[in-house]
Amino acid sequence: MKRIISLFTIKVITAFLLFSQILMAAGEADYPENYYDKVALFLIFVIIIGFLSLVYFESKIKVVKEKQPSVFWAKFKYYLTKSTPIEKEQEVLLADHNYDGIKELDNRIPPWFSGLFYATILFSIWYMLHYHVLGTGDLQEAEYAQEVRIAEIQRAELMRSGAMINEETVTLLTEPALLESGKQIFITNCAACHAADGGGLVGPNLTDDYWIHGGGIKNVFKVVKYGVVNKGMIAWQNQLNPKQMQEVSSYVLSLHGTTPANPKAPEGTIWKEE
Ligand code: HEC
Repeated sequence: MKRIISLFTIKVITAFLLFSQILMAAGEADYPENYYDKVALFLIFVIIIGFLSLVYFESKIKVVKEKQPSVFWAKFKYYLTKSTPIEKEQEVLLADHNYDGIKELDNRIPPWFSGLFYATILFSIWYMLHYHVLGTGDLQEAEYAQEVRIAEIQRAELMRSGAMINEETVTLLTEPALLESGKQIFITNCAACHAADGGGLVGPNLTDDYWIHGGGIKNVFKVVKYGVVNKGMIAWQNQLNPKQMQEVSSYVLSLHGTTPANPKAPEGTIWKEE
């Protein structure tokens, strides 16, 4: 019997280690870094394992008891409950509490219950000291402020990486370094159809006042992102990231008013910035 239990224990521990690895992996892969998610998953795991071992031991325990009743277990149970043995029930029987033959025993409060009660008192003292006297724990307001701070950092990071840039939010860049980077993108990807100076070849002249799809950073960004596929303008969203598309669009607009070597005749209509 002992051997079976120890084997079982080994299995439980192995399963636990495996599962916690899976949990950690899952936490890294799919879930946002959330402490409470992990705690909840862990608790669910503990409950499941607890339930399984309960089922297991319930089926086995009778065999153990028949062979040799565990003195330790009996003592432990008695210590937890201090219940009056049936032989002595007369002593705690309440004579005047007898309703339709249903009698009441004046059992003492089980120690496990009192223990729980004292634990809540200790906890409340710790809680009071931690949060309200020493101020070592964050109250709701501070926790909220901290979450806001984290969100702001994440937002700034998203802004920096350009993930938030789209045709609605895009702004015109004017910083020389960023326009230079836009120029490199233009030379590499766009010059073949729009000419290195933007004068136009297959694609239209990008330096004049005329635009087929509207001027301004938002329209230009949109055309660059989605392309005009049936007219031969590629959609760049799979090849350039939003930041790069913003840079090249800003560079295109910086070409306005320059005089290319072989300007293509204007196409589209005059665009006036509102
Ligand atoms: C394969 C050729 C080709 C390449 C490469 C190309 N374009 Fe175009 N582009 C075109 C054509 C053709 C049009 C005209 C589409 C139309 O008639 O609607 C166009 C239109 C545009 C327009 C709209 C002009 C207007 O008048 O509204 C912009 C802006 C533009 N391209 C920018 C770019 C940028 C930036 C790149 C590089 C990232 C690029 N293009 C690469 C062919 C190209």
